[in-house]
Amino acid sequence: MKKFPENFWWGAATSGPQSEGRFHKKHANVFDYHYEIDPSAFYDQVGPDTASNFYNDYKNDLQLMKEVGMNSLRTSIQWSRLIDDLEKNTVDQNAVDFYNHVIDAMLEIGLTPVMNLHHFDLPVELYQKYGGWESKKVVELYVGFAEKCFELFGDRVKYWTTHNEPMVVVEGQYLFQFHYPNLVDGKKAVQVAYNLNLASAKAIAKFKAMDLKDAQIGTVLNLTPTYAASESPEDQEAARIAELWNNKMFLEPAIFGHFPSELEELLTRDGVLWETSDEEKAIFKQNTIDFLGVNYYHPNRVKAPDVAPDSVGAWMPDRYYDAYDMPGRRVNLDRGWEIYPQALYDIAINIKENYGNIPWYVSENGMGVSNEERFMNADGMIEDDYRIEFVKEHLTWLHKGIEAGSNCFGYHMWTPIDCWSWLNAYKNRYGFISNNIHTQIKTIKKSGRWFKQVAEQNGWEA
Ligand code: BG6
Repeated sequence: MKKFPENFWWGAATSGPQSEGRFHKKHANVFDYHYEIDPSAFYDQVGPDTASNFYNDYKNDLQLMKEVGMNSLRTSIQWSRLIDDLEKNTVDQNAVDFYNHVIDAMLEIGLTPVMNLHHFDLPVELYQKYGGWESKKVVELYVGFAEKCFELFGDRVKYWTTHNEPMVVVEGQYLFQFHYPNLVDGKKAVQVAYNLNLASAKAIAKFKAMDLKDAQIGTVLNLTPTYAASESPEDQEAARIAELWNNKMFLEPAIFGHFPSELEELLTRDGVLWETSDEEKAIFKQNTIDFLGVNYYHPNRVKAPDVAPDSVGAWMPDRYYDAYDMPGRRVNLDRGWEIYPQALYDIAINIKENYGNIPWYVSENGMGVSNEERFMNADGMIEDDYRIEFVKEHLTWLHKGIEAGSNCFGYHMWTPIDCWSWLNAYKNRYGFISNNIHTQIKTIKKSGRWFKQVAEQNGWEA
């Protein structure tokens, strides 16, 4: 048997904006707004209005999650739903009732709730008024929202995370134009990265001050381990900077309470360092995470840049490295992401050796596949053997990492039920449970049945 540690989390993750639908939501987040002004930017022009109807269907959905063997679920509380007055941080009672019902329903059926506070879903008014995460005012408003969440739900929710993949906000909104407002501004990107880190540390400070019984707080980072194209000093240098920018910029403040000095030196030399203060440095120092969530989808392979990094032009972090398309790599062509399960072992060992072996879990992993109806059998079940293989391979490498002493306590799949994805909408499906978006009928896939056995046995017969 490949056995996992006792009380291992077998579960999956989703987010409020991708599952609930906009029903009765007072504020638009940046994606709701983007869809309002430009529906053609979204695959098949499908927006977040209905999503997977979790708002109305949560009882049935949670029951299905239980049926695929999950013992834990991460979702998020939407800032744009919970808060009524965004400046005064008053709450919308309908939203409070909704999240109370969801949390109670989860506890009733034995699904441990993990609640995240920000999954790219900034209320758009705060972008329009203050420039969103560019502004420390927005950091303060977020901290007020977080505090409300702890007060309202902290008696029952024992696991909290401050952000999901803050780097995606930096890249999508400020560098590579894949999320609204699609800016290209390296200097702003640096400040946004800092402010997101600061927001996390300040929310943790509030959390700690409340002294909630047995509760823990962490953050969820997309760790894309960096692999250099070769051993050459130029490729190694490219990999060093890519790792600093993509991973260490979030990992180090979260775990050690300060930014990597090599990164600060590089940003200072380039004249783009963030605005900081001694007071904020002290906040980072005192407010580190209890556990780490790691979203892992694909590695980051890099090589020395074709163009010299000191070329003339606006500052961008990727002037120091180019993407390396490794010949012969395995790819999920529907999403365009390399499949490299071994990276989960490398992540496990990296956390063990370089990050104090902090408790961590795989907070997302998964494979988005298009047109899964082609694999539907006569009983209406999708036979997604490729997903079973994918999960098994990743779990195998994770298991090796755990055997080598890494302190990993769970594995969450993205996602329990096929859900709405940012610009790709419902193009690629990731769930253990399929969703017919026209009827909202949800059906367990073959991978869901397989996962149930693995969860029940806490592993599988090797
Ligand atoms: C993660 C996000 O980046 O990957 C999810 O936390 C997202 O929100 C998931 O949906 C899959 O990526 P995508 O772009 O295919 O939906």
